[in-house]
Order: sequence, then C-alpha cells, then structure tokens
Amino acid sequence: MRIKDPKLVAELAALAIDLRCATSLSELTSLGIGGTTDLLRITKHDSLPALIELLERHHIPYKFLGGGSNLLVGDGELPWVILQLAKPDPEIVIVGTLAHVDAAADLGRTVTFCAKHDLGGMEGLIGVPGTVGGALRMNAGAYGMQIGSYVREVKLYRAAARKLEILRGQQISFEYRHTSFAPDDMMLAVTLELPSKPYKEILQGIRICNEKRRSSQPLGQKSAGCIFKNPPGASAGRMIDELGLKGLSVGDAKVSDRHANFFVNAGQASAKDMLALIADVRGRVEKAFGVKLENEVVVWNA
Ligand code: EPU
Repeated sequence: MRIKDPKLVAELAALAIDLRCATSLSELTSLGIGGTTDLLRITKHDSLPALIELLERHHIPYKFLGGGSNLLVGDGELPWVILQLAKPDPEIVIVGTLAHVDAAADLGRTVTFCAKHDLGGMEGLIGVPGTVGGALRMNAGAYGMQIGSYVREVKLYRAAARKLEILRGQQISFEYRHTSFAPDDMMLAVTLELPSKPYKEILQGIRICNEKRRSSQPLGQKSAGCIFKNPPGASAGRMIDELGLKGLSVGDAKVSDRHANFFVNAGQASAKDMLALIADVRGRVEKAFGVKLENEVVVWNA
C-alpha cells in the first residue's frame, strides 16, 4: 500500500512520522520473508492517537510491527501500511531496581544493560531476538523464566479505546506465550522490577543460557524462533523430530536440521512456501500424535 496524497504526507510530517516508502518486509523480519509496503516510523509516542485518527480518516489500514522476529508476512504488495516505533535515546533508564524501557529497545541489549546495573532475572532471555515490546506482547520466555514475571507497569496505545493507557502488572495476565493484551494494542514502554544480583553472577547465568541455545538452536540462520507452541506437557520440536521431518522442505522453506521446531529460510523462501511447510508438518503431527499444533509464529497474510 502506498501513501501518495501530498496533503497526507505533509500531515504525517507534522506528526514527526518518518515515512519510508516501498519498504520490503523481508528486510524487517528475522525470517527474511515478506512483501512491500510503506513504513511509518513513529518518533513520538504521543502522536499515536492523532496518527491513527489520520489513517482511519484516509481509510488506510495499518499494522504494528515490533522487531519482526516472530512474524511471517505474506508475499507481494501488502494491503496495509506498517507502523513501527523509532528507537529513542536513551532506551533504558534505571532507578533503583526499576528499569524503564522503551518498547523499541532490543531485548538482548536490555538484559545486558540491566545486568551491568546489577539487575538480573532475565538471563534466559539472552539470545531471544526482537524488541522488548514484542517480548511483552507474547510473554517471551526461555530456560524457566518469562518477561511477564517482572512487569510492573506497561504504557500502551489501545486502538479500541483510541487512547494511551498505563496498565499495572496485576491488570495483565501473562501465560505461556500468551497475554491478555488485545491484538491491536501497541506496546510503548514498560517498567520492569528486577531482582538485585551481582553482575558477575548474572553474567555466569547468561553464559550458561547462551551455550544451551547455541548447542540446540540454528542461531545463524533466518528463522522466527519456534514455529509452534509446545502443547501442554509435550515438545513440538521432539514430536516433529520423531517423525523424521528435519530437513523437510517446500522451496527454500526448511525444517531445521538442528531443532525441528525451527523452520528456516534457506535462501529465497516465500511466505507461500513457509505456510505450505507449516501446514504439512501440522498435518503430519496431527495424524501421528492426534495433537493439532498451534502457531507461535504470528502470520500476517495479505
Ligand atoms: N528435541 C528433540 N529434537 C528437536 C528439538 C528438541 O528431540 O529437534 C527435544 C530436546 O532434546 C528436549 C526437548 O525436545 O528433550 C525440548 O527441547 P528444547 O529444550 O529445545 O525446548 P523446546 O521445548 O523445543 C522451548 C521454547 C524455546 C526456548 C527453549 C529453552 C517453545 C515453543 N519453545 O523449546 O523458545 O528457547 O524451550 O527454554 O516454547 C521460541 O519460543 O521461539 C523458542 C525458541
């Protein structure tokens, strides 16, 4: 979708929106898959209500993009524009045991920044790609921890109410790879309350998690992390592996040889290829185990 109306372009500029025309989503997603549309980078949180009002007035559909690390975007010309927060400076402010973090901040950098201030708890999240906003939305977790446990407060834009709101941690439900946020809520900033720990101890925990991840996941390849959620009490990766599906491919979309719940873009995979591979694997697992795997990856299909 293209924004061409010069009047609208001027109105966007007045809201300090950085308009990047004809952006390929394959460059903004860790899978390296996705078609083309206009990207609107938001430099001021407070301009969001006016921006949404403006887009709706002009009948321009939109979607909110975080770090693009858990996302499969459709091919070709996309029928919506993309909104993304620009990174502010600073991204993180520490006050005692509280970390005030912008949603656009990189998750890994946030973990290490907090560690340097003797604030731990998030060691398991090192190596999880994406932004803090994206991690919050899906309650990212690994190695026995999840980000939701540390949330004290979230600032967000609620599209349904068309306003900026602040929610306390207790008002949000954080479950396994799921939260009570609405699909059109846009995370803006979070305050995390973290346990005090000496930097050296946190670093040791980070090293252990890094090592585990490196030994079991295809880190150097284009992927969206795990494709499916684990069903209760089971591992999707183990089930797919048991069926001998590592290496199975549709075009350049391939089940990783290293971890069967990671599907990689081994070259020029299209969304169509990746969706066909997901459907094929889901079907085979259901046939063999009677379990219908649920996507962890978010799909934006045109
Ligand atoms: N396994 C296999 N073959 C495989 C993959 C795994 O046999 O190809 C076995 C492993 O040997 C192990 C079990 O399955 O006995 C579980 O594997 P793993 O420890 O790798 O954990 P997982 O359940 O596959 C989950 C998260 C990961 C997270 C790790 C570590 C989900 C869907 N995945 O993976 O998160 O990094 O635990 O905590 O919850 C993600 O969500 O994108 C993600 C990568």
